[in-house]
Amino acid sequence: MTIAILGGTGPQGQGLALRFAMAGINVALGSRDGARSAEIARDLNAKLAGLPLSARIDGFENSDAVMAADRLVMLAVPYAGHDATLRAIAPALDGKILVDLVVPLAPGDPKRVAMPPEGSATEAAQALLGDEVRVVGALHNVSAHSLNHIDQPINCDVLVCGNDIEAAEAVMELVGRIGVSTYYAGPASAARCVEAITPLLIRLNISKKVPFSHAGIRIWAPGLPA
Ligand SMILES: NC(=O)c1ccc[n+]([C@@H]2O[C@H](COP(=O)([O-])OP(=O)(O)OC[C@H]3O[C@@H](n4cnc5c(N)ncnc54)[C@H](OP(=O)(O)O)[C@@H]3O)[C@@H](O)[C@H]2O)c1
Repeated sequence: MTIAILGGTGPQGQGLALRFAMAGINVALGSRDGARSAEIARDLNAKLAGLPLSARIDGFENSDAVMAADRLVMLAVPYAGHDATLRAIAPALDGKILVDLVVPLAPGDPKRVAMPPEGSATEAAQALLGDEVRVVGALHNVSAHSLNHIDQPINCDVLVCGNDIEAAEAVMELVGRIGVSTYYAGPASAARCVEAITPLLIRLNISKKVPFSHAGIRIWAPGLPA
């Protein structure tokens, strides 16, 4: 199985690429510059050398990464590049599932979101791509720090939302393979809540009154392990 991660050259995309490759899933790492992603893919493969089960990470230009993916394409660019990246790859997305993990942080203030008129980045992606492409929001609240520290388990659960249940379940199954619990949070409109959690975590992480950083979220209930 091969997935694509567009904007995979950033810290979030690199961390996800490492985790999925460790789970035996090949990654097509996308960039606006195929030479850049090829170089970063080489570095990431070197980090995985000798680990059991690890699959390959290969670098591509974003549209070619989409073509290399069997079914699932992750979007990991900053919100400023969200719509333009989607427009550029839209023709290649036919029949695939777009996993949107973009958080629309307010320009110049990562402690706030500036949601688009559609309500959230996930909803904006669904509106832009039309019903032919199923959009699923996921992985918004996982820190790049946790993803890249591959000697440690990932410190959070993952909320997944989208209008198509079968697509959301496919994403939950895939994301579960990197060792996290996943929960279906509702249709695409639930992304208004899920995306807005990230600036809250950023606020906690930079607060001098909070004795930790790189926080994640956990769903807990009586009977579940703490
Ligand atoms: N970092 C985190 O801890 C974290 C946590 C949760 C969610 N997220 C979300 O994950 C996404 C990626 O985060 P990140 O920290 O990895 O982002 P980033 O480093 O700012 O950007 C990721 C990659 O996107 C590409 N890019 C940059 N500007 C672009 C533009 N205007 N148009 C198209 N592509 C552009 C760049 O790749 P090329 O130059 O190679 O094309 C860059 O390496 C963001 O939406 C963020 O909100 C991040």
